[in-house]
Formats: sequence, structure tokens, C-alpha cells
Amino acid sequence: MAFIELREISKSVRAADDSELHILRGVNLQIEEGEHLSIVGRSGSGKSTLLNILGLLDAPTSGELLFDGKPTAALRLRARDRMRGAQIGFVFQQFNLLEGRTATENVAMPLLYARDSSFWRRDALAREALTDVGLDHRLDSLPTRLSGGEQQRVAIARAIVRRPRVILADEPTGALDVETGARVMTLLADISKETGAALVTITHDESVAARADRMLRLDAGLLAPSKPAVVPAEGAPA
Ligand SMILES: Nc1ncnc2c1ncn2[C@@H]1O[C@H](COP(=O)(O)OP(=O)(O)OP(=O)(O)O)[C@@H](O)[C@H]1O
Ligand SMILES: [Mg+2]
Repeated sequence: MAFIELREISKSVRAADDSELHILRGVNLQIEEGEHLSIVGRSGSGKSTLLNILGLLDAPTSGELLFDGKPTAALRLRARDRMRGAQIGFVFQQFNLLEGRTATENVAMPLLYARDSSFWRRDALAREALTDVGLDHRLDSLPTRLSGGEQQRVAIARAIVRRPRVILADEPTGALDVETGARVMTLLADISKETGAALVTITHDESVAARADRMLRLDAGLLAPSKPAVVPAEGAPA
């Protein structure tokens, strides 16, 4: 049984001119525990829409999303929130850090909703997560004092502090230069391997996408396997 399964997911919204916009038209996907997959597609193809549905932030118009074989549609709001908090870690393109809070306070934030002892240990766990991403020397820094790559690492620490079973990253390197972006992607992949979390990354960058175990393309509302556009030559420097 797949860890997460999407069955015939469709999403339609009402466009500004009152017509019906079909963003997703029957997406099927199975995600296994610990697997790293990437989703590419042109701008506006529905990648963020799909990721938000996967992360229980948005509901599909039709179709089913299952976690551990159990449909999520029937869950009450609080149960969905709890499940999202405990099992899913998000990393966004624009980091979404709280400006007036230190790195440690930002990372501890998700633990305010934990219902176990990690609530009481949130400060120590936040410091640990920041150490995992190589920021033990920036624990008390405000986000405005951090570089883009450092801010994204804080956001990654915040995504993993509750040890989620899946990390969802929406263009996590979009606001970073190429080199920093590559380092952030390596870090995300390493951390998901270490913690056993599945990793779903959305990216425009095919060289970033090609590092996943599996690469999928969203086109015309449907998801299909994709081959990288440029395959590095044999023996070429990495
Ligand atoms: N609530 C909404 N109401 C109307 N249109 C929407 C809504 N949400 C998304 N859309 C439209 O649906 C399409 C898909 O949006 P989405 O944000 O999922 O694309 P994307 O693939 O993530 O694009 P990008 O690569 O630019 O981030 C876009 O054309 C967008 O304008
Ligand atoms: Mg998007």
C-alpha cells in the first residue's frame, strides 16, 4: 500500500470572467515511504495547486487523496490540521519566515501545536534542527540578518522539526542563486534520506528535478513520467 495516493484528482475554479478553469483533470499518483520525486511543468500548469492538495491545504473538486490507504476527505477540520502538522513539512519558495522572530523561534513554531512532550522540548528541538542544517551559529539571528540560502535553511529546519513523513517543497530554490540553490537541494535530499521522509519537490529547473528518484511532468492538467531534457554526458564533470 502506498503511503500517499492520489486517485483521479481534479480541481476546477471559477476564473475572473466567470468561466470554469480546469486546473487538474484527473491526476493519479502513488508516493512510497521515503521516496524522492520531483514535479516539473510550465508556469500556470497547476503545480502549486497539486502540492497544496497533497499537503491538505486545499481540497480537490473531485477524486480521492489517501494517506496510508485511508481517505482524507471525510476527516474533520481539526483532524486534518493535526494530520498536516504531524506528518507534513512544507518548504516554500519565499521561505515564509516570521520577521520579528529569531531562527530558533521560527523553527520552534510548529511544535506549539504538538500534543506530546516535544511541545515542552521545542526550544531544544529547534536548536537541534538548526544544527542539522548547519546553522548552529545563527540560532538567535533574525531572518533579516540572514542570507537567502540561510533563510531557506531555517525554513527547512522548520519543516523537519516535527519529523514529518513527507516534505513538500514548492520551488524551494526559486529565490536563490544557482549555486546556493543546488546546496539547498542537496541538503533537502540528505535530510529526507536521514529522517526517512518522502520528498516532493516542485521546480522549473530540470537539472534540479533530475536528481530525484522519479521525475514527473504536469501538463494539461495531467501528471506523466518525464525524462530530463538534458542528460549530462558520460564522464562529464558534475
Ligand atoms: N483560486 C483560484 N482562482 C482562479 N484561478 C486560480 C486559482 N488558483 C489557481 N488558479 C490558476 O490556476 C493555474 C494554476 O495555478 P498554479 O499556481 O497551481 O500554477 P503553477 O504551476 O504553480 O505556476 P508557477 O510555476 O507560476 O508557480 C494558474 O493559471 C492560476 O492562475
Ligand atoms: Mg507555483
